[in-house]
Amino acid sequence: MAEQIVIRNGTVVNAWARALADVVLADGRIRAVVEPGTGPGGPGVTEIDATGRFVLPGGVDPHCHVGFTSGAFTSMDNYRQATEAAVFGGTTTIVDFAIPRPGEVPLDVARIQQAKAAEGICDAALHACVVEWNDTVPGQLRELVDMGIVTVKMFTTYRGESMASDEAIFKVMRELRDLGGMAVVHCEANHIIEEQQDRCAESGHIAAEFHTETRPPIAETAAVATTIAMAESLGAPLYLVHQSTVECLTLAAEARRRGVTVFSESVAHHLILDDSLYDGPHPERYVCCPPLRSRAEVDELSTGVWDGSISTIGSDHCCYNTEQKLSTRHDVRAMPNGLPGVEMRMPVIFSEFVVGRGLPLERFVELCCATPARVNGLWPRKGVIQPGADGDVVIWDPHQTRVVHSEELHMATDYTPYEGRTVTGWPEVVIVNGRVLVDHGTLVHDGTPGRALPAAPLKFLTGRVAPLVAPL
Ligand code: URP
Ligand code: ZN
Ligand code: ZN
Repeated sequence: MAEQIVIRNGTVVNAWARALADVVLADGRIRAVVEPGTGPGGPGVTEIDATGRFVLPGGVDPHCHVGFTSGAFTSMDNYRQATEAAVFGGTTTIVDFAIPRPGEVPLDVARIQQAKAAEGICDAALHACVVEWNDTVPGQLRELVDMGIVTVKMFTTYRGESMASDEAIFKVMRELRDLGGMAVVHCEANHIIEEQQDRCAESGHIAAEFHTETRPPIAETAAVATTIAMAESLGAPLYLVHQSTVECLTLAAEARRRGVTVFSESVAHHLILDDSLYDGPHPERYVCCPPLRSRAEVDELSTGVWDGSISTIGSDHCCYNTEQKLSTRHDVRAMPNGLPGVEMRMPVIFSEFVVGRGLPLERFVELCCATPARVNGLWPRKGVIQPGADGDVVIWDPHQTRVVHSEELHMATDYTPYEGRTVTGWPEVVIVNGRVLVDHGTLVHDGTPGRALPAAPLKFLTGRVAPLVAPL
């Protein structure tokens, strides 16, 4: 009989329910979820006592840039480093991006990036990215879907890097609709941002401490409205990344009520941190797009965690280091954007919302595990504890309290945006594909590589995923 792991007496939490149970893992999968104390024992069975712990599906981070090149900078990590950091934080699947540099072909870039998944220690899926429309794009999209890449990111900003025209976004969205794919769009209207950046530069407000002035909320609102209108007119699904204002969440929620299939992602730093950090000693460390917003905005955005208007919580992980950030801090237009976050996504959201504000655990799992899996074509393989799913399980200690220090984390950078923050709740044991990878803070990787996960074509009935009452 193959070696089994039995997790005993924990509280198993899925997006729709929780129950005391034993979870049986074998051959890389979840084999059974049975009454507490009734899981098998004896030779060949590794028993883990989860009494007083939550047994959660491994986290799925729907927005994670690994070794990301933008402008003059490449973020510091590779797949090994990014996935190691992910699993230490309870995330067992990442969804990375294959973003072409100017002149590169999206399909080629996706093939290269997909091959890197084997350098990781947990599984990874991929969003492709289209920057320019041309006659080869429809064929490339078909091949991408055949390769198991069904989501395609497009940017309404970053001129000269990855910005796509509205026309390109519209045409890609139309093709994807017919292929079972979905456009994933970064919404900030570039014309508004460039005008604002020019004004800021003229008045000497272009350094990192003025970042928030250079990218106003109205730029995000404008692009969200335009992009939703495209999806609505095409009857195409849409995933809006890193929504940072309640006004944008509301536009998406209203579209859902009209029957548009639109998902709203928010990322951990927009839900927790605010723009007062730009007045602190290290404003450059917090330069990301969209910028951190005001405390009032953060509080309003957080309502979406409860009311269902936020569909997923990602990290938007970009592993730049302080030296990279400092080198151009005098001009945000040249800075590397993005914050390192894959490791702390689950702990900070658990601590802030579940422990701090009473968010139901099921909703935490829905936001951080189940819906990210579902909208990325990975359901019911990932994001759920049930027989047949991959053996990705996190044993979560809800009482462990820690002070976050970057030197104790595993990301390939020298800072965390959460430095000095006290968090309660921590992943104690992390199991990936049926093998224990993190055991009370120690990596026990046996050399088994991560896999490139093929996403299944998407079949959405509505844009509102919750409540998730049964496997699809
Ligand atoms: O600031 C950010 N978010 N950088 C990463 C690229 C992107 O826009 O997602
Ligand atoms: Zn983005
Ligand atoms: Zn991003």
